[in-house]
Amino acid sequence: MDVGVSPDAGALAGLPLLEDLPALDGRRVLVRVDLNVPLHHGADGAPAVRDDFRIRAAAPTLSWLLERGASVTAATHLGRPQGKPDPRYDVAPVRARLGQVVPGVALLDNLRFDPGEEANDPAFVDRLVAGFDAYVNDAFGASHRAHASIVGPPARLPSAAGRLLAREVEVLGGLRAGAVRPFAAVVGGAKVADKVGVVRALLERVDHLAVGGAMAFTFLAARGHDVGDSLLEADQIEACAALLDEAGGRIALPTDLVALAPGGMVGDGAPGTGEVRMVGPDIPAGWRGLDIGPETAGTYADLVAGARTVLWNGPMGVFEDPRFAAGTAAVAQAVADGRAFSVVGGGDSVAALDRLGLAGRVGFVSTGGGASLELLEHGDLPGLAALRHASNAPGGA
Ligand code: 3PG
Ligand code: MG
Repeated sequence: MDVGVSPDAGALAGLPLLEDLPALDGRRVLVRVDLNVPLHHGADGAPAVRDDFRIRAAAPTLSWLLERGASVTAATHLGRPQGKPDPRYDVAPVRARLGQVVPGVALLDNLRFDPGEEANDPAFVDRLVAGFDAYVNDAFGASHRAHASIVGPPARLPSAAGRLLAREVEVLGGLRAGAVRPFAAVVGGAKVADKVGVVRALLERVDHLAVGGAMAFTFLAARGHDVGDSLLEADQIEACAALLDEAGGRIALPTDLVALAPGGMVGDGAPGTGEVRMVGPDIPAGWRGLDIGPETAGTYADLVAGARTVLWNGPMGVFEDPRFAAGTAAVAQAVADGRAFSVVGGGDSVAALDRLGLAGRVGFVSTGGGASLELLEHGDLPGLAALRHASNAPGGA
């Protein structure tokens, strides 16, 4: 499974790692983690963690620090509570699960209960680091945010990238630096505006880029297709047309789609209502395209099967409704079956893999959605830049 990509150690250049921290025995370490995990109502009706992937992914760094005698305090955001306490975003269920995965770590309250977090307020950074001797950023999934807990502490405390952050940077950096060809990317999800930049950056590196999910409709519209009532970002049509021109035939778009009749409802965990039909690539007026069709799924699976490196980010359809899950399942299966080194990012793709029991069969599952795309696009993140400026960073600050 480890054929196809060489993790790029060069991507770690200048980053202080755990080994670059001063002696930790008896010291107090603040660890920024990204435990922004999905919650649901547990058996007793109380909120509980639905997927603990990010909690398990943070464990190696937390354990490493504990083993060296540090007293460890973790801090995370959860959801988007808009700078004020909100019981829906209480970290209590996360704290409970963390206590089972890595006993002996304290977890602060939700960082985003204070408006200073998202505003990167220096006074909030001061309060956050008070009493700590060192700082570790292991919050890869949040390191694209220039928030107080991500960019503030490295200017005040000896700091380091945790194990998870370093591994993410190595693997995604490897995709940027030179993946083994053929390199195929499958990109889905809803918002095309968020993905134009990364699609452009990927086109410099990939042999094929297959587009699915709702973002495909803006590309189809750019090709002059009717998209019915499907999600369309009209202000991005021009950008998509430019990308199609630049790509010179390397962008694959859906040739067939699964569409829902006017008035139909999308289900969540069970089929919704309304007539479903295979159409396309043009969609009749009033109908909504909600998954790639079987011909498209076959084409995308073939692209994946022929690749030595695969990047998959974002579902191909509204897979929460089983009527629109086949496209995402076909891509997930192809990624799992292929001989390529595969990198999967984005919470929805990871959830789809989990649901299909395939998560163990991909090369690397990123804990970041937006962060992995921004790192692929720009080769750097605000959280990484801050760490490179820490006083103990290699080469000095
Ligand atoms: C995520 O889940 O995408 C990260 O934790 C970042 O969360 P945010 O998009 O609310 O900043
Ligand atoms: Mg996000």
